[in-house]
Amino acid sequence: MPPANTRLPLIPYPRSAVLTGGTCALNKATRVLFESGPHDLASWAAPMLDLLRRGTGLALPIAPALSGPTHTSITVGHLDGQPAEAYTLEITEAGVVLRAGDREGLIWGLQTLRQLLPAEVERPLPRVAADPGRPDGNLRPRPADWLPPPGKPSPWPTATLGEDAGGQGRGQRNAASAAAATAAQPAPHPVWSLPCLQIADQPRYAWRGLLLDSCRHFQQVAAIERLIDLMSLHKLNRLHWHLTEDQGWRLEIKTRPLLTEVGAWRLDSDGVRYGGFYTQEEARHVVAYAAARGITVVPEIELPGHCRAALAAYPELSCRGIALPVETAWGVFPDIYCAGNDAVFSFLEEVLTEVLDLFPSPFIHLGGDECPPDRWSECPRCRERMAREGLRDADELRGWFVRQIATWLAERGRRAIGWDEVLAGELAAGTIVQSWRGFAGATEARRRGHDAIVSPISHVYLDQDVAQVGLETVLGFEPEDPRGESASLAGSAGRTLGGEMCVWTEWIPQAVLDERVFPRACGGSEALWSPPPSGGARRRDVAEFRARLVNHSQRLRALGVAGLQASRL
Ligand code: ACM
Ligand code: ZN
Repeated sequence: MPPANTRLPLIPYPRSAVLTGGTCALNKATRVLFESGPHDLASWAAPMLDLLRRGTGLALPIAPALSGPTHTSITVGHLDGQPAEAYTLEITEAGVVLRAGDREGLIWGLQTLRQLLPAEVERPLPRVAADPGRPDGNLRPRPADWLPPPGKPSPWPTATLGEDAGGQGRGQRNAASAAAATAAQPAPHPVWSLPCLQIADQPRYAWRGLLLDSCRHFQQVAAIERLIDLMSLHKLNRLHWHLTEDQGWRLEIKTRPLLTEVGAWRLDSDGVRYGGFYTQEEARHVVAYAAARGITVVPEIELPGHCRAALAAYPELSCRGIALPVETAWGVFPDIYCAGNDAVFSFLEEVLTEVLDLFPSPFIHLGGDECPPDRWSECPRCRERMAREGLRDADELRGWFVRQIATWLAERGRRAIGWDEVLAGELAAGTIVQSWRGFAGATEARRRGHDAIVSPISHVYLDQDVAQVGLETVLGFEPEDPRGESASLAGSAGRTLGGEMCVWTEWIPQAVLDERVFPRACGGSEALWSPPPSGGARRRDVAEFRARLVNHSQRLRALGVAGLQASRL
């Protein structure tokens, strides 16, 4: 019998795990049994079972429940009366029994089972181009005089992914996936051994997010699938997809074709036409791919600021109405949607009608951050709007703007999310606030009865250099401090839904996504899924986590994740 405190090689660590001694062998006789019940467990489990089949080289056929006890079995059944995403996993010498009450719980249970198998079960994820926003798919040649600003990581990778696979642009995803499938040879092991144990697991937070900015740098669909696979491995369940920006509009909108014909392309300083966008078919594919892996894709359509690409396509939506190019520099820019022009709201409703059709997410992110008042204070139509609506200043006008769209969403059964700047105005009922400039926005939102997502720059902005936001910082992230200000909130307060790591890509072409995201996202997954530090400790045990991470990194390397040198773990 192993000592009770032996830690399993799992990230994030389950709520409760007890080794019971002995091992269970999966071999060619192993069958999968689905208990009958209210849900279609077989279809929920299919993508993960396929992954396990490919990895182990075992057929793992699905057998009727009465096929006999002589084989080792993986039994999948229902779990009643447990919170969302919960699962139980029992492994004995006779086999594996996994129970869950919903699709997500079932997927997380299978991910845990996968992590209990050795790293040899992993097959490399498809390779992707270095920077698909550029015509040749390769990284921009490094200009002699180019240096990132202090504190920003260099985008020039030491080891790039798939340099030899450049040019896998839109439409070539299927080819990439097919190539990966052919490369996946059955593993040589006829028998895979699992430790006998009992796990009862559920998430600490319902919102375990990762923001991907597809605007500053563009990623191909295969790279997003890859990120989704890696998120799912870590039980991260919200892909916040930042799709519109000053530097590019990345989602096809059928009623507004110029958004992508014009707004998806910028003329970079080296004369290269940089860009790309996702067709509606691709967006639907990403949504379905993510859902099959336990992840909700939450689209962000930024308003009223960070919209220069939309204004380049439709200049009449700005206060000045003048033609402007899609932005090429990084920063905050004064030209934003005109708040006094009713056509802006018709435009946004048209866009969002298509967005709602593509994204079944109950949540739609509206941005609301970094919205300078310059144009609005000079614009007669915006001033008239303020006078008519009794709004005192640009902050109140911004609040009014976001409230119009959030209310429109609520009427269609969706909840708006806004960055914490939206707190400057009154919020529509049900609006969720994402606190990024620290933790105070979340406390204020909750005090006002709104739910909050916490993603402070200081702890979870993965575009920050590791010297500022290191693995230990992300691992130590506590969305709410039980001894802090939020502890004194009244019963009518909103809830902290969870946290989100943010991957803004100004300095992150696709080639370096891996090393900006990992291993820090492993720490973030532990912070958001696993129970808080035990025994009154204020911090997690970093050394213990690192020991698990060293083991886990073998799996990530086998998957082809770059940048996991021992010095970075
Ligand atoms: C943000 O980083 N401007 C939300
Ligand atoms: Zn205006």
